[in-house]
Amino acid sequence: MSIRHFINLPEIGPETLKGILEHAHALKREKYNPPQILEGLSLVMAFDKRSTRTRLSFEVAMKQLGGHTIVMNMGEMQIAGSETIEDTAKVLSRFVDAVMLRMSSHEMMEELARWSTIPIINGMTDESHPCQIMADLLTIEEKLGAIEGKKIAWFGDYNNVCKTFAQAAPIFGFDLVISTPPDLKPEKTTADVIYQEDAKAAAKDADVLVTDTWVSMGQEGKSIEKFMPYQVNSALMALAKDGAIFMHCMPIHQNEEVTPEVLKTPASVIYDEAENRLHAQKAILAWCLEEAGVRVRKSA
Ligand code: CP
Ligand code: NVA
Repeated sequence: MSIRHFINLPEIGPETLKGILEHAHALKREKYNPPQILEGLSLVMAFDKRSTRTRLSFEVAMKQLGGHTIVMNMGEMQIAGSETIEDTAKVLSRFVDAVMLRMSSHEMMEELARWSTIPIINGMTDESHPCQIMADLLTIEEKLGAIEGKKIAWFGDYNNVCKTFAQAAPIFGFDLVISTPPDLKPEKTTADVIYQEDAKAAAKDADVLVTDTWVSMGQEGKSIEKFMPYQVNSALMALAKDGAIFMHCMPIHQNEEVTPEVLKTPASVIYDEAENRLHAQKAILAWCLEEAGVRVRKSA
């Protein structure tokens, strides 16, 4: 049986990912009567960076589905000293059923997954944030219907969240327009993922305007001047399609990547988006742990 890691969207397969998204919709409908599908299972969550939504959503998701969680600060684990990634992965695999990691190094997460005999879930690296994108797609489908064919316009930094949107575009069949300062132009663009230096042109007729902080965790001290033309403000929103929505994974830096005016309009769906982390996480956990869940029920 292959281990179901949730680290890189392109490695998971379109049908599986679409199935996880469908399951997230269903689990949201069962919000007040969550099925106890993870009864008896445990998740370790380990962080080397701050988190509010990722930590909360995984913790609540596990508990609502009947499971348990253990939170660890990576700086306090032996891996921060001399213990190897191999030993850490092998020992975690003996104690719990899955691991959710927020760690800066994507390569280190992949190496941990290579040694692990239980699923590893990417709770964000400097390269990607797949759990966030699943929640964002859930939100877009709820607000605007099927994701296929939608125009999503990304503004500001070319960062981990943007890169994961770019991975998701060909899988889910939406168009992504990336609008960043020219020095951050993505090296590779495709039919589904295009670059547009002019923010106004990028916003035109978009279904979704999305942004994120200009200074991701670990980039403190970086200059933000060059990002100002990519701020999402009322003028930019006015160019989008009627009924277009504004999204942001949060945390927000008002008057930097987005103005308070935009956040006050009904177009802003940021709190639904944050809540949807919970429902998306449940579906991701259910997929990763499906096999483990069967094993536990059989031995009960
Ligand atoms: N969007 C997101 O991942 O939020 P946290 O950093 O609070 O987990
Ligand atoms: N791009 C941001 C996302 C935070 C959820 C960061 O990496 O800090």
